[in-house]
Amino acid sequence: MEIIHTIAWMKEQARQARAENRIVGLVPTMGALHRGHLALIERAKRECSTVIASIFVNPKQFGPKEDFSKYPRTFESDKEKLEQAGVDSLLAPEAAEIYPQGFSSYVQVDGLSERLEGRSRPGHFRGVATVVMKLLQIVQPNFAYFGRKDAQQSRIITQMSRDLNLDSEIVVCPIVREPDGLAMSSRNAYLNAEERKAATVLHRALDAAKNELAAGVRDALQLQTTLRRKLDCERLATVDYAEIIDSESFEPVVRLSEPSYIVLAVFIGKTRLIDNLYIEPKAPGSDELLFHF
Ligand code: PAF
Repeated sequence: MEIIHTIAWMKEQARQARAENRIVGLVPTMGALHRGHLALIERAKRECSTVIASIFVNPKQFGPKEDFSKYPRTFESDKEKLEQAGVDSLLAPEAAEIYPQGFSSYVQVDGLSERLEGRSRPGHFRGVATVVMKLLQIVQPNFAYFGRKDAQQSRIITQMSRDLNLDSEIVVCPIVREPDGLAMSSRNAYLNAEERKAATVLHRALDAAKNELAAGVRDALQLQTTLRRKLDCERLATVDYAEIIDSESFEPVVRLSEPSYIVLAVFIGKTRLIDNLYIEPKAPGSDELLFHF
């Protein structure tokens, strides 16, 4: 696996791969890799002939009071995991390479970026969209892979790609979970043993809502009450939001009938975790639902 630190060299390598008619897949990450990231790489390996991963802890997507400086950085073990997974090139630029002196252009996806995560983390999605746009410009992959745990991020990147006529196809991959249901996240590393146990409350709350839906409940308020009741039972949990939203607009729904998400953001101690359940009718117009944890 070649490790690439400069944009010029990454562009050259990607250009060469395209010239050889290779199908190029990009897996952007901030490192601290877990099985969720590795599932993205595996999917890219199945669908592409050249797989490029990036590790860049993007300062522009962290707020001033967020965890940029203490975000887990595990470059050596990440490198090993990517090598073992068969990644061809790893782009690992310094911040000054991505944001040189005088950098002043940003990508803003209006509307979608202001709700939920955007409300709690102002400027977050502007930072995400900008860095992802740059990575897509640099590599120009056929496919770029993102995890559905960050459902709003994936939706915003898909919207950006559509609005700005990007050639890369955005592929959104299922959430990977621990055996007890906790969604894989680099931030799980912040949890102590007691918090780690408490963190399963996100999955437990989603599961309770799923059971209600399976029993025929469609009223969003009733589902929200169930979520809150479960979450409030956990002493270490402080709810930021628990909403039932339309999967396209990310606006709250009153009654669940179209493809939707139940989205959660919950502090466990000081660690903010997110999770979601994607729900869609089994067939258009059908009242039977499919659940994607
Ligand atoms: O999901 C992440 O790890 C980051 O938000 C991403 C997409 C790599 C952009 O920095």
